[in-house]
Amino acid sequence: MKFNFQQEAATARAIIQQAHSIVAFSGAGLSAESKVPTFRDAQTDGMWTNYDPEQLASPEGFARDPELVIEWYRARRRDIANAAPNPAHYSLAKRLNLTNITQNVDNLLERAGAQNVIHLHGDLTQDRCHSQCGYKDKVDLTDPPGPKSCPQCGSRVRPNVVWFGEMLPKGTFELAQQKCSQCDVLLVIGTSAVVYPAASLIGVARKASAKIFVVNTERSGANNLGNIEFLGKAGEIVPKLLL
Ligand code: OAD
Ligand code: ZN
Repeated sequence: MKFNFQQEAATARAIIQQAHSIVAFSGAGLSAESKVPTFRDAQTDGMWTNYDPEQLASPEGFARDPELVIEWYRARRRDIANAAPNPAHYSLAKRLNLTNITQNVDNLLERAGAQNVIHLHGDLTQDRCHSQCGYKDKVDLTDPPGPKSCPQCGSRVRPNVVWFGEMLPKGTFELAQQKCSQCDVLLVIGTSAVVYPAASLIGVARKASAKIFVVNTERSGANNLGNIEFLGKAGEIVPKLLL
């Protein structure tokens, strides 16, 4: 049977309007139309093509060549500074009974007006001490810092994001699990849903009998878990679901 977008969107909209609590679980696809490269295609342009992100976004990569890693993040920070929130960010930001849980390290949801965004993988507007002595510092994305030492303990300073093999920020994942266990609706937006533990949040919402709506330009790890799966761009579809 052919997928009737108008009909399916109307069904999802009605359920969303009745919902008490909505969670939007997002990935890089949410920011793709804002020209922030998705995690896995970030390397298709410019000088970073021949670097594997898993080499750069890792403690091993940082130990091997800290200057290179800091330079990569300076480029990503400038990408974010030059980007603008798209209609999906704005529609997610203005819904008061909606909690944003994102894997993204950009600040586009905040720049669209969202409050209390849960950043599962940290965010690039902050630096922290690599030895986790407690030092943190806000970063100006338009003029990102180069390599520097922690003023408190002398260790290296690095972006406050989660690298491969590192733990998620303390308490953040537990808060996300709690929100997903209490929501009536889960929107899964622009994520390949293959990275754990983040992707396990979909199962938490499902167990709580939440209705799940997936928005992605292609099939993903979240498909088959959604009550309705919308194939298309977040910037076009999400505002239509949150009318
Ligand atoms: P991915 O790059 O793995 O997946 C992006 C998803 O967005 C894909 O499923 C695309 O089909 C979809 N997509 C692309 N453009 C879209 C658009 N305009 N509208 C809707 N969907 C679109 O990024 P993530 O799923 O976010 O972790 O990756 C999750 C984690 O993997 C990242 O947070 C990062 C990486 O390892 C860490 O850095 C710890
Ligand atoms: Zn320190």
